[in-house]
Amino acid sequence: MKIIHAKDYADMSRKAANIISAQVILKPDCVLGLATGTTPIGAYHQLIDWYKKGDVDFSQVKTYNLDEYRGLTHEDPQSYHYFMNKEFFSGINIDLANTHVPDGANPDAEAACKAYDKMVADAGYPDLQLLGIGRNGHIGFNEPADAFSKGTHCVDLTESTIEANSRLFEKEEDVPRQAYTMGVQTIMNARMILMVANGKNKAQAVHDMCFGPVAPSCPASILQLHANCVVVADDEALSLCEGQY
Ligand code: GLP
Repeated sequence: MKIIHAKDYADMSRKAANIISAQVILKPDCVLGLATGTTPIGAYHQLIDWYKKGDVDFSQVKTYNLDEYRGLTHEDPQSYHYFMNKEFFSGINIDLANTHVPDGANPDAEAACKAYDKMVADAGYPDLQLLGIGRNGHIGFNEPADAFSKGTHCVDLTESTIEANSRLFEKEEDVPRQAYTMGVQTIMNARMILMVANGKNKAQAVHDMCFGPVAPSCPASILQLHANCVVVADDEALSLCEGQY
């Protein structure tokens, strides 16, 4: 695990965007695994800016997002599909047919997850997987559990995730209780992992991810076993890791 210290959110975002744009420049038809949440928004906006300046071209890139709320259609403004269009895809020259998010509107969880797993596998898995981290150490929607998950599956969100994500909804009751998420094994199949984290409320999770035991009680800790994982985190998120890297 390589830890890159960023001064603040803007610095973290630019560093992450630099790594993603290098991937796209080196392999224009690469597969990117993408994440939602507020953390990667700055990196997405930076990439839009560089695209507009002519520095990076997404015309051949394929993307696969980590997760989607169960029960939300693509058009729902709270869906991750909508989020990706708004924060990233609408600002770059990606072919929307090459962008993929699990189908939250399919009530048949097994079929929806199986189909998504096949799509990601057929694409050869991501060259680069961007990740954020939940305050409880979750990645995608892989919540703390007794075992690491494998493929895409349907999860019950924990109370802490529902509460954390409620800031993006009008009321806590509006937060869906379930989601479809790539499993930990699928995430680990990416050839490179880029984890971004900022803020004090991520400090414990970042510490446990980087220096805690590799255990499903902190799903992100498995990234210690990935051969090419880069963590870009700001001062506050790294505040409990001082002197350890
Ligand atoms: C959500 C997403 C995760 C994300 C996490 C942290 O639950 N499913 O992919 O990493 O929240 O979000 P944020 O970046 O807003 O703190």
